[in-house]
Amino acid sequence: MKVCIIYHSETGNTRHVAQHLASACDGKLIDITDTAHYNRLTRFLVECKMAQREEKTPIEPASIDVSDYDQLVFGSPVWAFKPTPAIHAAIDAVKGCEGKKATAFCTHGGRPGRTPEIFQKWIEALGMKCVGNASIHQKDIENEKRTKELVSILIKNSVHQ
Ligand SMILES: Cc1cc2nc3c(=O)[nH]c(=O)nc-3n(C[C@H](O)[C@H](O)[C@H](O)COP(=O)(O)O)c2cc1C
Repeated sequence: MKVCIIYHSETGNTRHVAQHLASACDGKLIDITDTAHYNRLTRFLVECKMAQREEKTPIEPASIDVSDYDQLVFGSPVWAFKPTPAIHAAIDAVKGCEGKKATAFCTHGGRPGRTPEIFQKWIEALGMKCVGNASIHQKDIENEKRTKELVSILIKNSVHQ
């Protein structure tokens, strides 16, 4: 099974989890860059509000062809209890995803809020089947037990469905 892991990470937590997942399933990693011209402070101030309103931001790569993959995994930090504008844009940028299985995870500092259900809504709106969803607290990203659980929710789960 070929897995493609598409993630956005500003400070490295989500990237760390994505890299762990990729090594567990020999998956392809696609790192989404937010190309809006903000500095770090203004990005957080402006895009936190955009996250709340479920808006999108310009990204690189602007288009993501996933037709070679069997399963997709999307990862994002939680901003204002929701996924980021960059991962929202990335989900909309995937081509060849219709009918494929997809899972999603977020990293957060305490309260993921509505992030899992919003991920599911965006994934299903593009015709993918959402077969797993997980949240991981930033303090647990080095926790071996928790990362094994994540692999089974996000990767193995889909193999058996
Ligand atoms: C602008 C901003 C908003 C955030 N909002 C939340 C939040 O609503 N709930 C939460 O649990 N953590 C929140 N956090 C913490 C991040 O989700 C957490 O640190 C995450 O692991 C960062 O991922 P990254 O290192 O991949 O960018 C926020 C962080 C930032 C910078």
